[in-house]
Amino acid sequence: MEKLIIKGNIPLNGEIKISGAKNAALPILAATLLSSAPIQISNIPHLQDVTTIVSLLGQMGVRITLDERSNIEVDASRLESFHAPYELVRTMRASVLVLGPLLSRFGEAEVSLPGGCAIGTRPVDQHLKGMQAMGAEIRIENGYIKAKAAKLRGATIVMDIVTVTGTENIMMAAALAKGQTIIHNAAREPEVEDLANFLNTIGAKVSGAGTSTIVIDGVEKLGGGRYHVLPDRIETGTYLAAATITRGKIKLKNTRPDLLESILLKLEEIGAIIDTGIDWISLDMKGRRPYAANISTAPYPAFPTDMQAQMMAVNTIAEGTGVITETVFENRFMHVQELQRMGANIALKGNTAICTGSDHLHGAPVMATDLRASASLVLAGLAAHGETTIDRIYHIDRGYECIEEKLAQLGAQIHRIPSEHRE
Ligand code: UD1
Repeated sequence: MEKLIIKGNIPLNGEIKISGAKNAALPILAATLLSSAPIQISNIPHLQDVTTIVSLLGQMGVRITLDERSNIEVDASRLESFHAPYELVRTMRASVLVLGPLLSRFGEAEVSLPGGCAIGTRPVDQHLKGMQAMGAEIRIENGYIKAKAAKLRGATIVMDIVTVTGTENIMMAAALAKGQTIIHNAAREPEVEDLANFLNTIGAKVSGAGTSTIVIDGVEKLGGGRYHVLPDRIETGTYLAAATITRGKIKLKNTRPDLLESILLKLEEIGAIIDTGIDWISLDMKGRRPYAANISTAPYPAFPTDMQAQMMAVNTIAEGTGVITETVFENRFMHVQELQRMGANIALKGNTAICTGSDHLHGAPVMATDLRASASLVLAGLAAHGETTIDRIYHIDRGYECIEEKLAQLGAQIHRIPSEHRE
């Protein structure tokens, strides 16, 4: 397996461009299954997770053309299969996003249950409950969700918990259903809104996305169109945290500060000087050490769980003690043990991590366990004195486009080495 090697203790300095959002690109690509007309999507990030969903759509018979400038053309006019196999779904839970569109357009879907994952059990009961309310017959057989519906019909659905992909799956299912669907307690994440905007671009009737009540009036048929995916707020936040932890000064372009309010406010609270324009953000630490952050993660617009690990890395070298509470996933502290190997002073108490910052971390061999955990290790490595080797970096390739190139552009000493042996 490939590794990243980082020589740390260098303040980041410079400008980079932010890529399109992974968590918007995935549902939008899944939603192309709803239409038989050609669709062009731009600002698609080059990521392993995108490759996974493209392979999944390709296996079903969707014709996809990719160019090197982040554009994708999709033609889902003919499908040969409505099957999402375990081999693909287990590598990426978001594959379950094909369930709603398949059921809505073809009346049939067979999607592997995602199963457990490193950061918790992550069930899909809310996705299924919503589709059952719309008239789908769902059986779980041999690890697969087998769903059928002659024609989905609109329904009023109250989500028991706020779920991002659950809201998206139901929204897609409702796009071609007969009548009106109302989703109460919907996720308000910007990526949910981006999916709604995409659906409306190809002829759907979705309103209220971005609020906790989404109304979808089903239409007979969806058409073609062009859509530009919104910027990745978590990639943006990760680079801002990287500049904060290294006491650097950076400018990020092709992003949207309005998507990151909770993150920007937190970074300002701990000492960063932030400036923004419509599509850029700059951050300057003026060479100073950040103060420790107290954070409680929660659904949007609160502080995102996908930035929790990165802020934990910042706390390890901050002035004072910071308390981070993870309320979205039950097992999302796997980076803590690895950060401790680099000298971090963190005590875990249930879903709370209490971290007292030390003057500096020291480089060490560490292991990435999931996507955002691996980002936190990269950040820690950038700040640490000495050399850090991060193993299992395939996790990071799932969600960060060209991470070592972008960090090198900001002055980091980072490179990738091939595996010594195959596992
Ligand atoms: C999405 C994001 C992920 C982010 C997460 C929370 C994508 C592709 N991924 O994941 O990056 O970390 O939102 O912001 O957009 N739950 C249930 N039953 C369900 C569905 C979810 O109990 O049917 C629980 C989960 O276990 C979790 C919580 O709800 O504790 C929130 O999960 P959810 O919002 O569904 O996360 P994802 O959509 O999988």
